[in-house]
Amino acid sequence: MISRRLFGAHNGREVYLYTLSSDKLAVEVCDFGAALRALRVKTDNGETDVCLGFNSVADYLASDSYCGATVGRVANRIGGGRFELNGVEYSLDKNDGGNCNHGGFDGFDRRLFRAEVRGDVLALYLSSPDGDRGFPGRLDLRVDFSVDGNKLKITYTASAIGADTYFAPTCHAYFNLDGEGSGSALGNVLKIAAEEFLPLTRAHLPTGERRCVSGTAFDFRTDKPLGRDIGQSDSQLLEADGYDHNFIISAHPCASAFSPRTGIRMELDTDLPGLQLYTANYLCAGGGKSGAYNARDAFCLEPQYFPDAVNVPAFPSPLIKAGTTRSNFILYTFFE
Ligand code: BGC
Repeated sequence: MISRRLFGAHNGREVYLYTLSSDKLAVEVCDFGAALRALRVKTDNGETDVCLGFNSVADYLASDSYCGATVGRVANRIGGGRFELNGVEYSLDKNDGGNCNHGGFDGFDRRLFRAEVRGDVLALYLSSPDGDRGFPGRLDLRVDFSVDGNKLKITYTASAIGADTYFAPTCHAYFNLDGEGSGSALGNVLKIAAEEFLPLTRAHLPTGERRCVSGTAFDFRTDKPLGRDIGQSDSQLLEADGYDHNFIISAHPCASAFSPRTGIRMELDTDLPGLQLYTANYLCAGGGKSGAYNARDAFCLEPQYFPDAVNVPAFPSPLIKAGTTRSNFILYTFFE
């Protein structure tokens, strides 16, 4: 079942919150940023909201956290805010030091999508014009959200119109399975099916190395509390103030998380090749649903292409050829 209510306005247009419900879940999606704003898991003890979100459009605009948003055109960093495609150099916004991060200054997280309810599916549409934030070609995007029992599925379907272009989405949801607003998420227990991760330079760009997780703080191949190794004097953790790294997915489902406090478990799967683990190291935001949020109050598990993939030929390419369409999905399953 899908219902909607008015959330606010943006540039004179109304912004709505859509609630997708089943017997197990109630998921709120905002058409501003195609953002996941709440995810209430229904348990025997009532409902626990496991997803951070804000109380107004103004609070979303005031934050640079990409809270719950659909990120685009390209999630994560693009080194030097530039790339070359078909012999042409493209220059993007440099909104992260010298890099372009998460699509630039005015990425998809700050756009109002057009919504259509199609049965049990909420379809959110955005047409990104040729040259948007420096990216070539028009990109027509449809993001489908659907809830079925204990599952939430997000599907991104993008078409390149008129020119080849890049598209590398993610859902930037901030989770705390202890419950949104309950403080630090470092007690959440995580498992990531990755044998290797991508070490970063100081500028948060991949060094090119694929490092084995074995024997490092990045080994999440078996259940481990997020906070267990985060304080290790590993130069990768020190540079990023915690985890902010891409893991190379090696099996499916690609990750799971568990709260010993609430007993809620989340399983994650995707057809994207990488998974960014970000322990909300820079989160510092007012306007949160249950008050201000602080660093480490949540974790993000962002399925995505590898960082700077548009400039690294060895990485899977997020290219979409002109006149073609590509789909990717993210699937969350909740257990209690
Ligand atoms: C990045 C972080 C960044 C955060 C908010 C994450 O996906 O990896 O470095 O601070 O998004 O932009």
